[in-house]
Amino acid sequence: NWSMGNYIEQTVKEIKETVGDKKVILALSGGVDSSVAAVLIHKAIGDQLSCFFVDTGLMRKNEAEKVMKTYGEHYHMNIECVDAEDRFLNKLKGVSDPETKRKIIGHEFIAIFDEQKQKMKDAEFLAQGTIYPDVIESQSVKGPSATIKSHHNVGGLPEEMDFKLLEPLRELFKDEVRKVGRELGIPDHMIDRHPFPGPGLGIRIIGEVDKEKADILREADDIFISELRAANLYQEVSQAFVVLLPVKSVGVMGDERTYEYTAVLRSADTIDFMTATWSHLPYEFLGRVSNRIINEVKGINRLAYDISSKPPATIEWE
Ligand code: XMP
Repeated sequence: NWSMGNYIEQTVKEIKETVGDKKVILALSGGVDSSVAAVLIHKAIGDQLSCFFVDTGLMRKNEAEKVMKTYGEHYHMNIECVDAEDRFLNKLKGVSDPETKRKIIGHEFIAIFDEQKQKMKDAEFLAQGTIYPDVIESQSVKGPSATIKSHHNVGGLPEEMDFKLLEPLRELFKDEVRKVGRELGIPDHMIDRHPFPGPGLGIRIIGEVDKEKADILREADDIFISELRAANLYQEVSQAFVVLLPVKSVGVMGDERTYEYTAVLRSADTIDFMTATWSHLPYEFLGRVSNRIINEVKGINRLAYDISSKPPATIEWE
């Protein structure tokens, strides 16, 4: 019989015993798992924990600020924001192949990890928000589907690093991680979030990525997500986001002819993310989101709704 209070108390005790007076580093992505791991470890060892958040320039609107505010200001954790926007965008310049983009982003994450490791030579432990399903997945023999896309996680540990791993959530399922997070006082809007892929907006800007497109997509995505929340639909769907296409089309705004990007709303309903159906969102709702995005986001003049299921389509477009 799993009890939250016991779990937290017991785990905090174990972390203290394991870590002693040593230092711990953690890459905080702002996702549920790394956030809950960070707060739990911080509760146990306070300032012996140092976190870093990598701002890739491919994060959602105000993501870096939200993370720094919540964990830096509210929890008073040691947390550094690594501003790597230029690095990621420069490396991605001129690249439009999805797998190549994923590899570039993954390599850049590892390079930044390495640099942080050099800066924190005195840390003995690397903490990760690994949860039980991750443990199972990495133990299972992967079929061909595993290679359809090269997945990577921000918290992935490159082979050559010689830290001891600290993974306090290893035995928990996602819903248990969320419960622990709530009990630790992490705000709901940080705990109930849909999954967000490691490569971020880099794989939601179809084709070549640049800052202008990332800024456009951030605004559109923020409107879609805010409207889902306002309509109490955010928790009804499993994952929702906007995709920006490298396609411009003609439109009209007032007396002006426009020639701007096309964006796509994607919303999926799924249990395990292996198969999914498109969400049957109300027409009224879709209309409102479409009007807002086209009126408010400079650079988009046309919106489509993705009605593909997985398989054969994937949830992400790249
Ligand atoms: P697909 O597009 O394959 O996505 O149907 C299934 C789920 O996985 C997420 N996803 C990723 N997550 N790193 C991640 O951490 C990745 O490279 C990655 N690619 C896809 C996707 O958002 C969806 O939840």
